[in-house]
Amino acid sequence: MSAQVKSRSRVQDHGEVFTNEREVNAMLDMVKQETERIDSRFLEPACGDGNFLAEVLRRKLSVVRSRYRRSLLEYEKYAFVAIGSIYGVDILEDNTQECRDRLLSIVEEDYLPVCKKRPTPGFLEAIHFVIGKNILCGNALSLKTVDSSGADTDDPIIFCEWSLVGDKVKRRDYRLDELLEGSASNIQPPLFGLSGTPTSEWELDEETGSMIPKPIREYPLVALYEVGQHE
Ligand SMILES: C[S@@+](CC[C@H](N)C(=O)[O-])C[C@H]1O[C@@H](n2cnc3c(N)ncnc32)[C@H](O)[C@@H]1O
Repeated sequence: MSAQVKSRSRVQDHGEVFTNEREVNAMLDMVKQETERIDSRFLEPACGDGNFLAEVLRRKLSVVRSRYRRSLLEYEKYAFVAIGSIYGVDILEDNTQECRDRLLSIVEEDYLPVCKKRPTPGFLEAIHFVIGKNILCGNALSLKTVDSSGADTDDPIIFCEWSLVGDKVKRRDYRLDELLEGSASNIQPPLFGLSGTPTSEWELDEETGSMIPKPIREYPLVALYEVGQHE
């Protein structure tokens, strides 16, 4: 566990005080079942270097390993689902990068014994790509991305929904501001499945039975091992 404070100026400028491991676990234990559901979606809007997201990933991967370690293909599919459902935003670029690196190392540490140190070509590249799309440097208040000076850009935060269709992966991109629209009355709305006032830009999500905004982009199905090859 790293120090809870990096510098006084970071605390003053960004309220950066990291949560220690004991508190992270105590809080996640309050939603224990969700942390152990491989496809439950988590979004942390001020994720820092990923204390909560790292522990969620560890818990999900432990379920994946116990269920699927005897079949590499199944393990890879469900590990992909586990990481694909974890999202984070932080306003500081170094935190964002540390969070990404940390999540990738957790997947590698879990995966290498399962694949007997012979990773399937394209698998870790796909995981790396997904983490880069799911953990973003942005302002969780304005819901815009930020530039290297920490100032808001004009670009909205966009998250990808990753879903498995057989052995292939479907990617659909959504604006976070649209996902949150109409959900103000929900204390903890589920990502990609919000109950809000439907408009013509919303559609019924069959998986969750609730209304969600239309994606801003949809991509053709690709093989899991090719996910990292398509921007
Ligand atoms: C109290 S720390 C918590 C970090 C992490 N969630 C944890 O519990 O260890 C708050 C984090 O929010 C980030 N932050 C501050 N303002 C933000 C904003 N408007 N949008 C996104 N992140 C922000 C800071 O950079 C910092 O990493």
